[in-house]
Amino acid sequence: MHRMAKKPYITVESLTVGYGKELVFRDVSFNLSGPGLVMVLGPNGSGKTTLFKSILGLIPPLKGRVIVNGLEVTGKPELAGRLIGYVPQIPRVNTSFPISVREIVESAVVLRRPPPRLLTPSRVREMVDKILKQLGLEGVADKPLRSLSGGQRQRAFLARALVWNPSILIMDEPLSAIDPRGKEEMVSFIAKISEERLTVVSSHDPGLFLPYIKILVLVNRGVVAVGPPKETLRIEVLRRVYGGGVTLIDRCVHVVDSHVH
Ligand SMILES: Nc1ncnc2c1ncn2[C@@H]1O[C@H](COP(=O)(O)OP(=O)(O)OP(=O)(O)O)[C@@H](O)[C@H]1O
Ligand SMILES: [Mg+2]
Repeated sequence: MHRMAKKPYITVESLTVGYGKELVFRDVSFNLSGPGLVMVLGPNGSGKTTLFKSILGLIPPLKGRVIVNGLEVTGKPELAGRLIGYVPQIPRVNTSFPISVREIVESAVVLRRPPPRLLTPSRVREMVDKILKQLGLEGVADKPLRSLSGGQRQRAFLARALVWNPSILIMDEPLSAIDPRGKEEMVSFIAKISEERLTVVSSHDPGLFLPYIKILVLVNRGVVAVGPPKETLRIEVLRRVYGGGVTLIDRCVHVVDSHVH
């Protein structure tokens, strides 16, 4: 049950995705294999969240397929959810509801409807305690989510995504709503996680991640480039992603990514 795919991968084949008549991606194909950190970059509205949701089977594509660890998950959120841990951009919880850190992680254990032998109270507690400890949340396990800092809350959602030990993790904008100190801490947790998982992260704040990035996916209503930072962080590529907001000053590329959250 806890066996991890040795070489986790995501293959996107000729994917066309849109909302109604508006196409966000047309005929996009790429392959990501892990472990390692994959960073998805692109301005607001470029399609990062749409790409993640299509990989997770949450948006049925107009055309194309998504294969995860050898299984076709196109339009199958339940199957994709078993293979991929997902931390959405703005996790949908009503924080006025007094749910604790432990409860939010426990609910993910139960949601997966495991066989009853895995669902004894002591087994669930063991699983939850283990992941809370790994994420440094053991001290706040019984506190309500709303009393936590932005970073602790984001880690609680990360614990929720990791409790079944998936070989792939997708995090959409994990640094938004975290103060500067918390951001560094979150980046180091994500870097550690990516050592043994295919970890796909989007951010408008990629600087802190840069030392750990294996592959960059540059997005602007389509996938502009996929490859290691050395090959993809080039001014002509960045201009295709960010347009006129890219300038070259003293041989350093500066990107003005005036995003809104
Ligand atoms: N549920 C929806 N219905 C209709 N259009 C949508 C929906 N979600 C997103 N879009 C549109 O699809 C395009 C891509 O949006 P998406 O949220 O994927 O971008 P993003 O790169 O994640 O942006 P951000 O950086 O702001 O999170 C945008 O034009 C957006 O307006
Ligand atoms: Mg988004």
